[in-house]
Amino acid sequence: MSVFDKIESVRIDFLAEIESSADSSDDLEQIKNKFLGRKGIIAGLFDLMTNAKQKDKPLIGKSLNSLKLELRQLLDEKSKYFLNNTEKKYIDLTLPGKIPRIGSIHILEKTLTEVKNIFKTIGFSVAYGPDVDDDYHNFSALNIPEYHPARDMQDTFFIDKNIVLRTHTSNVQIHLMENENPPIRYIVPGRVFRNEAISYKSYCLFHQVEGIYINKKVSFSQLKGCLEYFIKQMFGHNKKMRFRPSYFPFTEPSAEVDMWDEERKEWMEILGCGMVDPNVLINVGYDPNIWHGYAFGMGIERMAMLKYKINDIRLFYNGDIRFLEQFS
Ligand code: PHE
Repeated sequence: MSVFDKIESVRIDFLAEIESSADSSDDLEQIKNKFLGRKGIIAGLFDLMTNAKQKDKPLIGKSLNSLKLELRQLLDEKSKYFLNNTEKKYIDLTLPGKIPRIGSIHILEKTLTEVKNIFKTIGFSVAYGPDVDDDYHNFSALNIPEYHPARDMQDTFFIDKNIVLRTHTSNVQIHLMENENPPIRYIVPGRVFRNEAISYKSYCLFHQVEGIYINKKVSFSQLKGCLEYFIKQMFGHNKKMRFRPSYFPFTEPSAEVDMWDEERKEWMEILGCGMVDPNVLINVGYDPNIWHGYAFGMGIERMAMLKYKINDIRLFYNGDIRFLEQFS
């Protein structure tokens, strides 16, 4: 390899190195030493001159000097670049920090927890049951006859002829009574599904808390007392509520509770309740001459709407951060 070839190969090595392994001023300093230092590669090339032919010496000297110049220039450019860039990397400690977004518990979950806590203080345990259930537990065992309009395709989501998405949490009343001997006292939170027209107060899915209490002596006034206590704890003593006579196939007598919606100036139905129908007790093998009970089922979304002044049930389900953040 001629001296000139060697000079060219050193140049190529240098270019490659400054391109690929110079990431900081420190790296630059090392490359500079390696090539331009007193015992560096260029100095080594100058040594070669001693053995070169006399006539070649001036040209070799000229090439080496221009290589040295070129290398210095490239090193300077790169070092200026680092200087400018590191300046930008300085941390300004006076800048306000970035505050991470903190998630929060969904307002429905929070409402559900409040409901659970109130009932726990008056002796109810919490139980859960299936969202997808058979016709028997969702309807027949609850004394809902086959021709009852609640079974209509318009209200119920059918998985197949015999399996449904539960339309209420009352199916769990049956499961609990089938599996346990009385007395029992449970609340059952859960998701329910109805194929009904969607509006500000109705959605295709929502949450209920079922309550069931079975014992030897249970009266309608105990039911009223229990629910009144609950509503006062939940909404405060001044919130207007009313019991209204109603009908459910699985309770007799039955009632609904409405609460006054101050925003819309109208009553809003929040729960159904009543004394467990003897037919239901018979279906689960309880003797209705010995055992009595009450049951209720309340809508969590509607209670959250009243309590937190939310005017549309759909807001619970569209995941809009601006809505959710208000309750964090
Ligand atoms: N299951 C009824 C409903 O969804 C509510 C209810 C529960 C009524 C228990 C009476 C007793 O509308």
